[in-house]
Amino acid sequence: MNGKTVHIKSFGCQMNKLDTALVNSALTEAGFSLTERVKEADVVLINTCSVREHAEQRVISHLGHLQHIKESRPDIVVGVIGCMAQRLGPKLLEHEAVDIVCGPAQIHQITKLITKTLQQKKETIAVTEKIRQRTDENLPLEDFESTYGIGCGQIQAQAYVRVMRGCDNFCTYCVVPYVRGPEVSRPPEAIIDQIRKLADSGVKQVTLLGQRVNAYKHTSGDKTYCLADLLRMASDIEGLEWIKFVTSYPSEEFFEEILQAMADLPKVCNYLHIPAQSGSDKILRAMNRHYTAARYLEMLDKARAIVPDIAIAGDFIVGFPGETQTDFEATVDLIKKSRYKNCFIFKYSPRPDTTADKRLADDVPLETKKSRNTELLAVQEKISDELSAEFLDKEVKVLVEGLSKKPHLDSAKSDGNPQLIGRTETDYIVVFNGPKSLTGQFSKVKIAKTSPLTLFARLM
Ligand code: SAH
Ligand code: SF4
Ligand code: F3S
Repeated sequence: MNGKTVHIKSFGCQMNKLDTALVNSALTEAGFSLTERVKEADVVLINTCSVREHAEQRVISHLGHLQHIKESRPDIVVGVIGCMAQRLGPKLLEHEAVDIVCGPAQIHQITKLITKTLQQKKETIAVTEKIRQRTDENLPLEDFESTYGIGCGQIQAQAYVRVMRGCDNFCTYCVVPYVRGPEVSRPPEAIIDQIRKLADSGVKQVTLLGQRVNAYKHTSGDKTYCLADLLRMASDIEGLEWIKFVTSYPSEEFFEEILQAMADLPKVCNYLHIPAQSGSDKILRAMNRHYTAARYLEMLDKARAIVPDIAIAGDFIVGFPGETQTDFEATVDLIKKSRYKNCFIFKYSPRPDTTADKRLADDVPLETKKSRNTELLAVQEKISDELSAEFLDKEVKVLVEGLSKKPHLDSAKSDGNPQLIGRTETDYIVVFNGPKSLTGQFSKVKIAKTSPLTLFARLM
C-alpha cells in the first residue's frame, strides 16, 4: 500500500472503458486504492473521448470542476488520459487543473507518471508522441495489456478484450485514426491466453474489441489468422460461455467466414454491430466508406441468411457536409430496410484536422441536423418496438450484470427483491426483479412486457 487513492472518470467508447479497467488494475497493483469519490482522491484521472465536440466539452467542464476542487486541495494530482490527451497533447497542460497528459499509446507509463508527479509536485508531464508508429513501440503496450487485461481480482462476469489497436480507415469525419494510431492486430496467442485466464477467474462473457474488429488479421509463421479463427479458438475455452465482438465495418473481406463461425459456434452470440453511417452513396463516398447502400443491404441479407436469428445494430451520422433532403431520405430508406435492433444516431460534428473538416464546409444547419436526428430516431423506434414485441411471453437466457441503476417503474411490482439488469445473447437489455446474488450468473427469465429498448421480465 502506498496509501494514495485514485478516482478515474471515464468518457467514450468501450476502448476507453477497457483502458480504464487496465489502468485500475495497474494502479491497484502498485498500491493505490480506488475511490468512487473525487473528494477523497489524491489522484484524479479523466479518460477522455474526442469523437464529437460535445464529448470534449464535457471533459472541459469536468476539468473546470476539478480546478475548483484544487483551489482548496492544491496537492491533488489531475491526469488527462485517452483520446483528447492525444489530440491536444502538451497544450492541455495550459489548463490550470492539469498535471499529467498521457495518450493511449503511452498508457503503460501511467503508474510511473503519477508516482513521479506525486513526488515532485509542480512538475507537469505530457507524453503523447509516437502515436503513428506501428509495431516496435507496441511491445510495452502489449505487455501492459497482457498483464493487466486479466482482471483485478474482483469477480466480474464480463470482460472486454482488445484484439486490435487503432484504425487505418480514415473515414473523413473521424478523429479515431489520429488519436488511436495505426491499425495493429494483437497476436492470437496473447489474446487467447488472456481470454483463458479471464475464464479461469470466472468471466463468462468476453467482448472482443476493435474499431474494425472484422478486419482482424495477424500472420504468425505461415498462417494468417482472421476474426473467425479467433472465434473458433476462443470457443474452445472451458468456462467461457458467450463471445461477442464489436464494431464491424461493412466490408466483404472475411464477412462470410465470420458469419459462418457465428452460425457454427454456439458460444458466439448472434449479434452484429455494423454501422452504415448513411444511406446515400454520394455521402458514403464523401465519408470514405467503401460500400454503397445496395452492397450494405446485401451484406445484411447474407448475414440473416447465414444466421437467421441474428440481431443487427447500427450507427448513422446526420448532417454530414453536403447532405441534402434527398440524401437524408436515402438514409431513412436504408434504416427502414435494415430492420436494426437499435441504432445510434449522431449529428455531424466537425473534428479538427480530419479530411472532412479541412475540405468540406459544415453546411447543414444545426436545426436541420436536429430535425433529421429526431426523424431517424422515430423511424428506428418503431422498428425497435416491433422487434422487441416479438419477445413477448418468450423465455430467454440473460447474463445478469447487476442492480439496475435507474429503477424502471414498468418492471414487475416489487416482490421484495431488487431490480436487476441483464443482457440476452443478442444484446437486448432485460430488467427483472431477483436476488442480487444472481449478479454475474446466467438466469432464465420470461418476458412480460416490451418497449423499444428494454424488455421487462419475470424470473423463472
Ligand atoms: N470504429 C467504429 C466506431 C467509431 S466512433 C466504427 O467504425 O463504426 C462511433 C460512432 O461515432 C461512429 O460509428 C459514427 O457514427 C460516430 N462518429 C464518429 N465521428 C463522428 C463525427 N465527427 N461526428 C458525428 N458522429 C461521429
Ligand atoms: Fe473512425 Fe471509420 Fe475507423 Fe470507425 S472505421 S474508427 S468511423 S475511421
Ligand atoms: Fe473511443 Fe472516443 Fe477515442 S469513441 S476511441 S474514446 S475518440
